[in-house]
Amino acid sequence: MAGKDDKNVPRHVGIIMDGNGRWAKKRGLARIMGHRAGMETVEEIVDRAYNIGIKHLSLYSFSTENWKRMPAEIEGLRELFRIYLMSKVEKMYARGVKIRFSGRIDAFGSDISKHARNVEEYTKNNTNLEVVFCVNYGGRQEIVDAVNKLLSERVEGPITEDVLRDRMYVPDVPDPDLLIRTGGELRMSNFLLWESAYSEYYFTDIYWPDFNSAELDKAILDYSRRERRYGVA
Ligand code: FPP
Repeated sequence: MAGKDDKNVPRHVGIIMDGNGRWAKKRGLARIMGHRAGMETVEEIVDRAYNIGIKHLSLYSFSTENWKRMPAEIEGLRELFRIYLMSKVEKMYARGVKIRFSGRIDAFGSDISKHARNVEEYTKNNTNLEVVFCVNYGGRQEIVDAVNKLLSERVEGPITEDVLRDRMYVPDVPDPDLLIRTGGELRMSNFLLWESAYSEYYFTDIYWPDFNSAELDKAILDYSRRERRYGVA
């Protein structure tokens, strides 16, 4: 398997972590138990990403569309975030992981967004791996927010791609090389719309709680066999 410094290892991997609910249903459990199991998968995959030498990992953790879910599930997800931020950050810090948040996180709950900002500050000088939790994130909303930022800055047109890109949520993070979606659906669901213009896609039927290091290795191997041409013949 690929190791650190391997040129076939994507620099930035984004993941749509889908299938938690179906994983729980299959076992006769409440949906939140699927999310809880999914949280453990996050820990394993961050570890594996670090070992492989991936430099940026974006995790679609709560989409702007997820507000349509039952209030109990939304509150359960919020609680898992609190737990994650309290209990897993130290281990990530020890690995030299820098933690970032992308999305309209302020609307996700003031206690969580405050905690998230503290974690960003605490880990900001780490350089081994950057993990971006996309929370209350939507790709279209990100573009709209960038345009509104331009308007509030009274930037004069015509604007360029670079000018707009600089107003995205985490403009210093390079575009994703590889986007993975678990859970069997074949769509992008408003994830990194602007940034994924030239990304490779990898879809698997495996539910997120069952995704593991070996499955990530499989996705990376698949990616390493592709030829990326960026529109050039
Ligand atoms: C999609 O599964 C998953 C989510 C909406 C949330 C993702 C959350 C986690 C992986 C756990 C929390 C993570 C952290 C870092 C605290 P789904 O519910 O849409 O599954 P389904 O399609 O089978 O119903």
